[in-house]
Amino acid sequence: DEEKDLQVRPPVVTIMGHVDHGKTTLLDSIRNTKVTAGEAGGITQHIGAYQIEYNGKKISFLDTPGHAAFTTMRARGAQVTDITILVVAADDGVMPQTVEAINHAKAAEVPIIVAVNKMDKEAANPDRVMQELTEHGLVSEAWGGDTIFVNVSALKGEGIDDLLEMIQLVSEVEELKANPNRSAAGSVIEAQLDKGRGPVATLLVQNGTLNVGDSIVVGHTFGRVRAMVNDLGRRVKTAGPSTPVEITGLNDVPQAGDQFMVFTDEKKARQVGEARFNKHQEAMRKESSKLNLDDLFS
Ligand code: GTP
Ligand code: NA
Ligand code: MG
Repeated sequence: DEEKDLQVRPPVVTIMGHVDHGKTTLLDSIRNTKVTAGEAGGITQHIGAYQIEYNGKKISFLDTPGHAAFTTMRARGAQVTDITILVVAADDGVMPQTVEAINHAKAAEVPIIVAVNKMDKEAANPDRVMQELTEHGLVSEAWGGDTIFVNVSALKGEGIDDLLEMIQLVSEVEELKANPNRSAAGSVIEAQLDKGRGPVATLLVQNGTLNVGDSIVVGHTFGRVRAMVNDLGRRVKTAGPSTPVEITGLNDVPQAGDQFMVFTDEKKARQVGEARFNKHQEAMRKESSKLNLDDLFS
C-alpha cells in the first residue's frame, strides 16, 4: 500500500498475566463500562473478541487466553496484537506466568502497559509490583523508565478510564495504519464446526475491508463469505481494519493463527484454496499413517 492510502486503524489489545490476577474480570469490566448507552444492559459477547469506543475512537480486545494468542498464533505466523496489557495483582506481585507473559510480549516486540490490579484489596502493594517488574526490565515512568503503569480495580471498575487513555496514547505513538480500500487480509482468532452453520471462523481483519460475498482463502480452507456477525451478534455486511468478525461459508474448519486473504478473482481463490486444501489433506493422511505405524511398533 502507498502511504497516501493508509489510514489510522484501531489498536488490537491482548490481556496477559498470571492465573487469577484478573484478566477475565478486566476484560468484562472494560466491556461493560464502555458499551454505548443504547446497547447497555443485557449485552452478551458473541465472539472471542470485542470492540469498544472510547473518546470517539475504537479499541479492539482479543479475548483469547493471552498465551495462546502469543504462542500458537505466532507459531503459525500471525502477529495480531498491537499492545499487551500485563495484569499483575497488587496483593500477589510478579509470578511465574507474569514473567512468561513479559517474555512473550518482548519476543513479539509488542509494547506492554502494566495494569496493577486488585487495588481495592487491603493487601495491595503497587510499589512492590513496580520493584519486582524492574528486575524484568519494566521500569515505571515514575522511576525514570518508560513503562506505563496504571493502578486499577477490575472488580470495582476503577482506573479503567486511565487504562483506556494509556492504550490510546501508546496506539498513537505506534502509528497503527491500514488501507481500508483494498481486499481484506488478516488472521483467524478461533474456529469451530457448528452443527447448523458448518465451519465458523472468527477473523481479525488486519488490512482492507472484508465483505459478504468475498472469495476467501483461510489457511487450508476456502469459500465465499456467506454471512458475517460482529461481536454483538449482529449481522454486518462489511468489516474494516482491526475489526473482529465471525464468518460462515468455508469448506472446512481453519486453525487459530491461520492467515486469510480475499481474492478479487473468484476462480483464482478456488484454485489457490483447492491446492492448499489438497496439500493439507495429504499432510493429514501422512500424519495418520505415521500414527498407525507408530501404533504397530509400540
Ligand atoms: P485465569 O483466567 O484463571 O488465569 O484467571 P484471570 O486472570 O482471568 O482472573 P479472574 O478475572 O478470573 O479473577 C480471579 C479472581 O480474582 C476472581 O475471584 C475475581 O473476582 C478476582 N478479582 C479480579 N479482579 C479483582 C479486583 O480488582 N479486586 C478484587 N478484590 N478481586 C478481583
Ligand atoms: Na480465574
Ligand atoms: Mg480468565
